[in-house]
Amino acid sequence: MKHYKSFFTNEQECLKAILEIHNEGKAIEVDPMYFKGNFYKEIAEPKYKFDLNPVVLECVQANAINLPLNDKSVKSIILDPPFLFGVHGKTKNYYSSKTHTMFNTFNDLEITYKGILKEAYRILEKKGILIFKCQDYTDSKTTMTHCFVYNWAIELGFYADDLAILNIPQSKVYNGNLNQRHFRKTHTYFWVFKK
Ligand SMILES: C[S@@+](CC[C@H](N)C(=O)[O-])C[C@H]1O[C@@H](n2cnc3c(N)ncnc32)[C@H](O)[C@@H]1O
Repeated sequence: MKHYKSFFTNEQECLKAILEIHNEGKAIEVDPMYFKGNFYKEIAEPKYKFDLNPVVLECVQANAINLPLNDKSVKSIILDPPFLFGVHGKTKNYYSSKTHTMFNTFNDLEITYKGILKEAYRILEKKGILIFKCQDYTDSKTTMTHCFVYNWAIELGFYADDLAILNIPQSKVYNGNLNQRHFRKTHTYFWVFKK
């Protein structure tokens, strides 16, 4: 199957294209932020499934900044960390730092993101790939999180090999009572970094 585009509206199609182009069509080996495994509806399950707060039986408790895997031992890893920070008001009904679905501050996000990038670099073989899902965030101001992720990955020595964009228009986190001053961030990014 040929893939000519970089913009997707279906997550499974996006993941399949990434794996076919960048991972010889093979399964992702490690998912340290597995949650319910929503990535694996149409693609193969990973060999190693971890989460800080596992919600399914087959997932092992671990922190993505300190994984029980040897240096240079895997070919592929996917990271899908929480992207919200400093959330207040209505959004609190959906997200909480206690359940590890958001960060208290941008600084907390930075510490975790840098930690998980460094850990991914440690466990990946040379030329191994890291797929990093991230999303920008507008509260009273806009944070272009995907640019920070790019810079932090490059600083560690990763090569930014590709970038796919996934648009999910039905995003539910917004305050409909306010005048809209920014685009609602309905799209997410899938960076493909190579060690
Ligand atoms: C956005 S969800 C992942 C969703 C998952 N990809 C799916 O599609 O089902 C983020 C997950 O990261 C986990 N998490 C947050 N911080 C973590 C950390 N430091 N180490 C491991 N897992 C973490 C949370 O418990 C949560 O399950």
